[in-house]
Amino acid sequence: MLHGKKIAVALTLSALMIIGMAATRPSGSPAEKPLADKPHKNLKVLPKNISHEDLDKVMDNWKAALGVKCNFCHAPSQDSTSHRLDFASDAKPEKDVARHMFKMTGKINKKYFNFDKDDKGNAVPTVTCMTCHRGNPHPEEK
Ligand code: HEC
Ligand code: HEC
Repeated sequence: MLHGKKIAVALTLSALMIIGMAATRPSGSPAEKPLADKPHKNLKVLPKNISHEDLDKVMDNWKAALGVKCNFCHAPSQDSTSHRLDFASDAKPEKDVARHMFKMTGKINKKYFNFDKDDKGNAVPTVTCMTCHRGNPHPEEK
């Protein structure tokens, strides 16, 4: 029967549309929110919109290059009930020295090594914290 077939086709089509709509509906789960929603508070030399992941990589890198822990540059939290570090605080002078070192390292690369480029044409840092520090906070000492 032709009429019955038409109804069956129409039902199948509307079922497919409902499935399609459900699949494209934004889920809105918090895990999918962009990291830029949580900006860091006190960045003066690193890009202000750096992702959490990239900042972690930079920090791990500095930590390893100097052979120190996070608390070498970061002061403890003012709140004495907390054992955590106050990462945004500038209370430790080592943190500002690190900013100064970061700028210096960038200048050395720009001035003397900018011929090293990756496939996108970005300069590849040739001199890094590790070049001088080699796991030592005081590279001038043996
Ligand atoms: C050699 C010094 C040094 C070490 C070691 C270090 N940091 Fe940092 N950290 C800095 C500096 C300098 C900044 C600020 C960068 C800027 O001004 O752009 C910073 C910024 C941060 C921030 C952003 C704070 C804000 O809201 O502004 C976080 C989070 C952080 N560090 C976590 C860590 C963690 C976790 C470790 C250990 C794995 C670590 N750091 C080790 C120097 C250091
Ligand atoms: C060209 C060599 C060189 C490079 C590259 C370099 N440093 Fe240094 N850094 C030194 C020297 C030398 C000292 C000791 C300076 C002094 O005692 O006056 C030092 C000292 C420091 C100190 C102070 C240590 C203290 O006890 O006060 C920090 C923090 C530091 N560097 C972090 C960094 C970070 C982070 C990087 C990479 C972003 C970096 N340095 C790259 C040579 C370098």
